Amino acid sequence: MTAGVHVRLVPMTAAHIDALMPFERDMFGTEAWTRAGYQSELADTRHRYYIAAEGPAGELVGWAGVMVIGETAEILTVGVVPGARRGGIARLMAAGLLAEAMRRGAVEAFLEVRVDNVPARALYTSEGFADVGVRRGYYDAGRVDGVTMRKDLQP
Ligand SMILES: CC(C)(COP(=O)(O)OP(=O)(O)OC[C@H]1O[C@@H](n2cnc3c(N)ncnc32)[C@H](O)[C@@H]1OP(=O)(O)O)[C@@H](O)C(=O)NCCC(=O)NCCS
Repeated sequence: MTAGVHVRLVPMTAAHIDALMPFERDMFGTEAWTRAGYQSELADTRHRYYIAAEGPAGELVGWAGVMVIGETAEILTVGVVPGARRGGIARLMAAGLLAEAMRRGAVEAFLEVRVDNVPARALYTSEGFADVGVRRGYYDAGRVDGVTMRKDLQP
């Protein structure tokens, strides 16, 4: 978790959207969000919480968001730029999202991940999420299954 020590988690802003857009398509493929999509996500501060991870020079190295409705949280996105991976940044951001979700009253968290996304599934499993279901053909126009994962947030 060495690189994670050198990053700062800050609330995500419009400037971070500009910085992440060049990475979005490569990282999320058919699931990539548009700039307008991110803008409306950020605008919904009542139910959503987005953070960015900045490196030592203030450069964007990662971003992540969660939705909290009632007692249920859902992790919406987690991304780390390719050159900054395997340094604990995603782990740091996931912890930041879940801490805020708990602060807002969430007692459980869910997320959806592609069945073939080995790094993400390993990340979430190591953070205490367990597979609870499969959504057949959830991604890539029916070609790739989604795995639903859940974590209990109660202390
Ligand atoms: C998945 C992703 C967010 C991980 O970011 P990261 O900062 O590299 O992850 P971390 O360094 O915090 O890793 C935490 C744990 O996740 C697992 N992990 C991360 N990358 C992995 C990989 N390539 N292979 C296997 N396990 C991996 C490991 O258990 C790791 O712990 P360890 O390094 O102590 O072994 C990053 O690869 C990414 O942005 N991928 C593209 C976008 C994406 O798929 N997002 C998730 C959508 S649900």
